[in-house]
Amino acid sequence: MNIPKKLNAWREIIKIGKNATALKEVNVWFKNNVIKILQNESWNDFFVVPRSLDEIMEEFSYTDKDYLLSLLDALESDKIITQMKDGKYQILKPIKSNGAKVPDIFEDSVVDIFNDYANAIPDRLRGKYLAFSGSFNLFNWDDWLINQLYDAMRRAAFAFTPEVLKKPGVFLDGGCGTGIGTSAIWLYYFNEGHIGHDSNLKLYGLDSNEDFVNIANEEFDRIASYHKVLSKEKIREYKEFYPKFKIGSISEIPFDDSFFDHVYTSQVLHWTNVKKTINDIYRVLRHGGIYFGTNQMLPKVDRYLSVHIRVAKDAQGSFSKEDMTKWLTDAGFSKIKYATPAVLFRAEKL
Ligand SMILES: C[S@@+](CC[C@H](N)C(=O)[O-])C[C@H]1O[C@@H](n2cnc3c(N)ncnc32)[C@H](O)[C@@H]1O
Repeated sequence: MNIPKKLNAWREIIKIGKNATALKEVNVWFKNNVIKILQNESWNDFFVVPRSLDEIMEEFSYTDKDYLLSLLDALESDKIITQMKDGKYQILKPIKSNGAKVPDIFEDSVVDIFNDYANAIPDRLRGKYLAFSGSFNLFNWDDWLINQLYDAMRRAAFAFTPEVLKKPGVFLDGGCGTGIGTSAIWLYYFNEGHIGHDSNLKLYGLDSNEDFVNIANEEFDRIASYHKVLSKEKIREYKEFYPKFKIGSISEIPFDDSFFDHVYTSQVLHWTNVKKTINDIYRVLRHGGIYFGTNQMLPKVDRYLSVHIRVAKDAQGSFSKEDMTKWLTDAGFSKIKYATPAVLFRAEKL
């Protein structure tokens, strides 16, 4: 594994750019998933004439207007549906799935995960959420979290915020999943000579999914050995310096004010109420602390992905850089910077 200190930030970012092709494939696949669901809901039959929002809600017993609007918005941005002057929606082309190639970066297990989300869309329209925890096959998630894209994004985030590796401190990986990303971060610090008694590093992982946190705590040697930097045996020699993983929400962080020097989240914000999360991250950061990470943002990220994500309880789905800047600024952050296309972000609590 290349460690960010040897890497140039922009070279890492360009590598993510190459992954953008993969993202395009992913987006087409997400769109097709949603189309399939609406086809099964018999939208084509109902839209023989233009329909108002209330008519759509009533016909299908949908209860969540806001979620329905996000779905219509995705279809509108794709010119499948249009809203007429009188507010009614008209179908411009039949809602018909032509099949979509499974993205190269998706293992079968990942396809299963997102099919579960897609299948939950009709329930979500009727006000029933999929619980984030408990509904997932943990083995599938293990597979998904080691995917190359996440690895590239994490490396780019650290290359974009190099000072966090130079100045080890109290570090939070928010939404750490099974600890795959956290273990990569631990190895970045290892490579810098910061794992040991002399170091100021205190690495924490936080995730709302109890099963993920248990895996992270109990199987750190296995998880960290995925990165092929150190063998399991070597990793175990550093047991007393393992990261500490805790169950909890990144929107209500179970730590005191000003506890952390650095907070990092990668591909997590869209699963949460983002404004609330950013406010709480500000609270737990010390003055002089940095919040950084990655999140795909609108308009790059596809609206159909958001429709999938929002089936989970509390998930806000996609947002734009402008939204994020406003929430960061309102919380009190300064020196806000982004790098596309990931999107990488960083902000400071001065
Ligand atoms: C797509 S995964 C990203 C995992 C990890 N950051 C990485 O890059 O490998 C999203 C993670 O966010 C977690 N999550 C979702 N909502 C959360 C919340 N409110 N608080 C903490 N974790 C959350 C999920 O359990 C999941 O592990």
